[in-house]
Amino acid sequence: MRDEAGLPESFLSPLFEPAVARAIASVVDATGELEAAEAALIARAVASRRQEFSTGRRLARRLLAARGIAPGPILRDDDRVPIWPTGITGSISHSREFAVVALCDASACFGVGVDVEPDEPVKPGIERHVCTSAERAWLDGFDQDEAERGRRVKLFFSAKEAVYKAFYPRVRVFWGFHDVTLELDEAGGRFRAALPQSADRRHAEGRFVRGHGTLVCGVLAP
Ligand SMILES: CC(C)(COP(=O)(O)OP(=O)(O)OC[C@H]1O[C@@H](n2cnc3c(N)ncnc32)[C@H](O)[C@@H]1OP(=O)(O)O)[C@@H](O)C(=O)NCCC(=O)NCCS
Repeated sequence: MRDEAGLPESFLSPLFEPAVARAIASVVDATGELEAAEAALIARAVASRRQEFSTGRRLARRLLAARGIAPGPILRDDDRVPIWPTGITGSISHSREFAVVALCDASACFGVGVDVEPDEPVKPGIERHVCTSAERAWLDGFDQDEAERGRRVKLFFSAKEAVYKAFYPRVRVFWGFHDVTLELDEAGGRFRAALPQSADRRHAEGRFVRGHGTLVCGVLAP
């Protein structure tokens, strides 16, 4: 079975436990399906932004409908955080190619975060902005070429964005990339994040999947 992105439906299975609904779709122009208040949010945006926004909203509505929640506008607050229907928390991400959404019951989790990226090396010079000294020391332990190292840095980048999205809507404190340190279990598709003091806990766990030229990271804060 293939999903809306033409990927195997099993692609996102390892990302979260079953209580978290998740879906991926190819970015298309779904602006015609937007509610008027949503369309107003992107009225002056460039075409690519209109496409990613509308695909994310379409996907979110599909997941909400599967939970029996009637369609309605998914607006955003002053911090760009999506405003979910009462009782739901979730996260939206888009790359050039794909949009990903994850949702869970707000009563069952503190937060959920997703991030999708092309599974490509970061540009030169990005590593020192993304990785802490502990993470760079871990990277130094591999016999790897520049591209392999760059893909690992991309994984740090994406995992930290997923961490941020899981926590920011509740914590409301900006965390820079050096405020969070990750331990990656590449073979297991998992990571553990040491969080800043402003979090309500010291650690968070996340998972990632790679394939079809795409990297998706997910964090569920219970
Ligand atoms: C918020 C942020 C992570 C979003 O990432 P991005 O690369 O811009 O784009 P993505 O496509 O992955 O995600 C965009 C979606 O995130 C959601 N979003 C935006 N700001 C958010 C926030 N503060 N908290 C949670 N979700 C947010 C929105 O749904 C947005 O899509 P939409 O505007 O179409 O609704 C990024 O802009 C940012 O501010 N990063 C700096 C902080 C950070 O990552 N720290 C890492 C250390 S923990």
